[in-house]
Amino acid sequence: MAQTIKKAIFPVAGLGTRFLPATKAMPKEMLTVVDRPLIQIVVDEAREAGIEHLIFVTGRNKGIIEDHFDKQYELESTLRKRGKSAQLDILDQDLPAAGQASFTRQQEPLGLGHAIWCARNLVGNEPFAVLLPDMIIKSQPGCMRQMIDVYAARDGGNVLAVEEMSWENVHRYGVVAAGDWLDNHFPILSMVEKPQRQAAPSNLIISGRYILQPEIFPILESLKPGAGDEIQITDAMIELMNDQPFFGVKFKGTTFDCGDKVGFLTANVAFALERDDLKIPLQNALHEIIKTHGGKLSWER
Ligand code: UTP
Repeated sequence: MAQTIKKAIFPVAGLGTRFLPATKAMPKEMLTVVDRPLIQIVVDEAREAGIEHLIFVTGRNKGIIEDHFDKQYELESTLRKRGKSAQLDILDQDLPAAGQASFTRQQEPLGLGHAIWCARNLVGNEPFAVLLPDMIIKSQPGCMRQMIDVYAARDGGNVLAVEEMSWENVHRYGVVAAGDWLDNHFPILSMVEKPQRQAAPSNLIISGRYILQPEIFPILESLKPGAGDEIQITDAMIELMNDQPFFGVKFKGTTFDCGDKVGFLTANVAFALERDDLKIPLQNALHEIIKTHGGKLSWER
């Protein structure tokens, strides 16, 4: 039987250059979708999937991520004095249990593959999940839950979340070639990181969620920099594919690439429109703002 996935890595050591100056002193992963930081949203997804140990790979200027997952005694006592029990409940629910979160450092942002490798001693010799906090996936059940179901059905291996992307944007992602589909998943035949459109084997991109076997670590250790001069996880997975099966899961849900400004803004609107307290006032405000600043939407006649 496949070993249970109990640990998840959250790589949060990147520089977030696309969001400067917002990310000069503040981590990109603390940007908020409505009132929840990106990192909290992916931690929620991991916990819903049964992950017990949260491993954060951080870097300089990322200290507030650690503070976010800690108690805030002064704040909590003030909320208690003011009788704000709803807010206290939210803080309480979001807090990992004692010892459930670990933090390690990637001293230099040498790439996603390198960040994952930095967590090797905390993961040890067992399969693990990776969730990228800038890819937010709105789905029920959560994307990682759907992936773990496929992992169990296939009795192990490596599992990647995939989705269709418009052809003009495939060059920004890792891309896979699919074998024969079975329900919502398929064996991956090949993959490539950030291919030119003509060289892409399909328009199925890897959506920032991975279940990987620990044999990836020794491969990462000796890997040379790839696309963008970074240590790429896709290059290590290509090597691991020689020995182990990889499956792609076309999950049910909507992805928001929050590393990109339009994706981030869209996520804020989409999440807010699903909230009873925000839906109507936001619809009205959007209507007004488009009338005042944008005139007609481009598709309106
Ligand atoms: P990105 O490439 O989207 O993040 O990596 P970035 O490099 O911070 O962003 P830009 O392109 O400069 O705006 C996806 C995730 O991997 C982490 C990032 O923090 C982000 O959560 N990452 C990336 C690392 O932890 N280390 C790295 O060396 C690179």
